[in-house]
Amino acid sequence: MSDEVASHLSEVIHSMGGFLAAIMDPEIARHAADPAASNFIAGNPQELASPEYVRALQRWAEPKDKDWFGYKMPHRPALVAAAEGLSEELGLTFDADDILLARGAHGGLAAALNVVVDPGDEVIFISPPWFFYEALILGARGRPVKIRVKARDFDLDVDAIAAAISPRTRAVLINTPHNPTGRIFSEETLGALASALEDASARNGRPIYLISDEAYSRILFDGNRMITPGASYARSLLIHTYSKTTLAPGQRLGYVALAPGMPGRDQVRQAFMVAGFSTGNMLPDAIMQYALPEIDAMSIDLHHLQRKRDRVVDALREMGYEVQSPQATFYLLPKAPIEDDMLFARTLAAQKVLVLPGTAVDMPGYFRISLTATDVMIDRALPVFAEVISNLAAGVPR
Ligand SMILES: Cc1ncc(COP(=O)(O)O)c(C=O)c1O
Repeated sequence: MSDEVASHLSEVIHSMGGFLAAIMDPEIARHAADPAASNFIAGNPQELASPEYVRALQRWAEPKDKDWFGYKMPHRPALVAAAEGLSEELGLTFDADDILLARGAHGGLAAALNVVVDPGDEVIFISPPWFFYEALILGARGRPVKIRVKARDFDLDVDAIAAAISPRTRAVLINTPHNPTGRIFSEETLGALASALEDASARNGRPIYLISDEAYSRILFDGNRMITPGASYARSLLIHTYSKTTLAPGQRLGYVALAPGMPGRDQVRQAFMVAGFSTGNMLPDAIMQYALPEIDAMSIDLHHLQRKRDRVVDALREMGYEVQSPQATFYLLPKAPIEDDMLFARTLAAQKVLVLPGTAVDMPGYFRISLTATDVMIDRALPVFAEVISNLAAGVPR
């Protein structure tokens, strides 16, 4: 980068290389704005927001006193509602004071990292990662250490994480349910991780935090249960967001929850406030805070999402694609029928079917489909997926 801007940003940009290559690929980007395209790239809405959600925002946008849009402390009813909702969801007891409001999971992750990481501390994160994990760790002046999930079944590789822990390890960042594999890590696996972190913290003489990105904790299929490492490891910072249940991620709202029994809870809570001042990573907008109790009770239609999952998984398998059925999240992660996932994505894009090349999430040779696409998009896309794989099998030139 040039002298005009901070040089450490070049490392941040480098960390997002795969994501930028995929998102800015001219042949894919050219079709992204085309309303006729079937867009499976991101967990974004493809239809208008629900009337219930819109009405809640409209209602709270009406000022009731002169302070309505003034500078604020966290809105107490929002903290209480989030704590009650999370307690019910996870089967643990959260107090309103355990909830630190944030601007979605992205804001919560940034805050959590800034609260625990000192310059040069190592943060282990799992790969395939969410796009900005490395950028966020670097932004907190930490050193990212990547550990892949197991190749065979996408489970958390606890032995590899334990082996990667050094005296400088300050935090481990996991994501469950996991984007993009759709895997929910089991209680046993998370228990083993908790033991490894307890042992390593004692060995290091300095606690290791577990940052658990739980953005999809309510996007579960087949009656699956959310399992949080917060149940087995008290030094867990649980990252939650309403971006997924409302499918309105442009309206920023989420929180970090301190696991029950968090040691030094009061200091950690204060540190969040201080980190907010130093990073400018402040509270969600007033309207979102007022609306939180209502938003907490809302959800997109998970039965419909599951029907789309089943339809697309069955159809892709029938065509010859290799794909596991996700336990949760918005995503399918099939293997691309050719090694070059970028070329495969461009071949689909030429027929107005847009997928995320696996390169964007450190999974070259795969592609990601977001089930937030509409049924009409799926109707249109399935014959294209079929044609492309059969042409590739028949050696038809692209
Ligand atoms: C795993 C994961 N973490 C965090 C986020 C960011 O969520 P938010 O929109 O709440 O910042 C996303 C969004 O796609 C995600 O998939």
